[in-house]
Amino acid sequence: SAAEKGGYDYFMLKEIAEQPKAVADTLLGRIDASGSLSLDELRIPDAELREAEKVVIVACGTAFHAGLIAKYAIEHWTRIPCEVELASEFRYRDPILDARTLVVAISQSGETMDTLMALRHAREQGAKVLAICNTNGSTIPRESDAVLYTHAGPEVAVASTKAFLTQLVACYLVALYLGQVRGTKWGDEIHAVVRELARSAEKVEQVLETMEPVRALARSLADKNTVLFLGRHVGYPVALEGALKLKELAYMHAEGFAAGELKHGPIALIEEDLPVVVVVPSPRGRSVLHDKIVSNIQEIRARGARTIVIAEEGDESVAPYADHLIRIPATPTLLQPLVATVPLQVFACELATARGNEVDQPRNLAKSVTVE
Ligand code: AGP
Repeated sequence: SAAEKGGYDYFMLKEIAEQPKAVADTLLGRIDASGSLSLDELRIPDAELREAEKVVIVACGTAFHAGLIAKYAIEHWTRIPCEVELASEFRYRDPILDARTLVVAISQSGETMDTLMALRHAREQGAKVLAICNTNGSTIPRESDAVLYTHAGPEVAVASTKAFLTQLVACYLVALYLGQVRGTKWGDEIHAVVRELARSAEKVEQVLETMEPVRALARSLADKNTVLFLGRHVGYPVALEGALKLKELAYMHAEGFAAGELKHGPIALIEEDLPVVVVVPSPRGRSVLHDKIVSNIQEIRARGARTIVIAEEGDESVAPYADHLIRIPATPTLLQPLVATVPLQVFACELATARGNEVDQPRNLAKSVTVE
């Protein structure tokens, strides 16, 4: 009913709007005033976390994209090797697991059969399993050794939005906590990250306030057949997520690519007026990456692409090559997905509406996939 949707036309719109609160709720009580992580709720003893030799993340769909982003954070902040795998592929390739492997299973519903089977397989091999889950008491956390709940609240729309942002928050918390218990040197970079993470709800709010041009742009593209998404580093999984949202909701051909791969094939797809969304990393920090993606934008534009550029406020270098420029607040590189994903959600939702699709209940899809 309209009341359930809180005055919004669709649950998805309501859930997009709830993201600042979902992020804040997921952070609540987990970072103390001194910037230390307090995750006693994880029932895995610190000693075991210290001994973990490898992290393996298993998940499906949007949760898998959160896992891909987590890999960058875990490896960079903790130096523990991390693999990410589609849960549906995991157990069929005889993965190498033992008591020193920490498996992280990410699932909004906690009922996804592929993810459940992957975690059962991991536990049979003696690995410890930590669930990141949004649904209290669901099967995946019940069958795991430990759980870190995301506090997104119920997500009704089939297309995941607020659950994804909270999965990212949970992944960052786990990564930082692993670093903390293992005594990783807490340099200025990590202190800054913790501070910025604590402020991320505000930044998501800021993005939401500036989405009208994104909606207008989406409507203007309603009769297109294809949209491509490019990113690199953590922007690559963001590109994959942007493409998945568009497939699910707008039923359009959408693909995400690592921008560095363009020259290895996908650039052949570029043609006159093809919309290409590019997620630009921060010009601060890893500026080499930034410069490379700016030249990618120039390359595709020279071949006729209509460039839709998502870039940090104050990043002027991209402006001359952007047919449409979407601004996001400046954020440390690893946290950028928290803000960069939001315009892509809004974009897909609006395009779906413009194409007359059922936003909350896309064809052929179920909210949780309880079959393998
Ligand atoms: C997200 O928009 C999708 N509907 C889907 O990919 C989903 O993320 C996937 O099925 C995993 O679901 P889960 O998080 O409940 O395990």
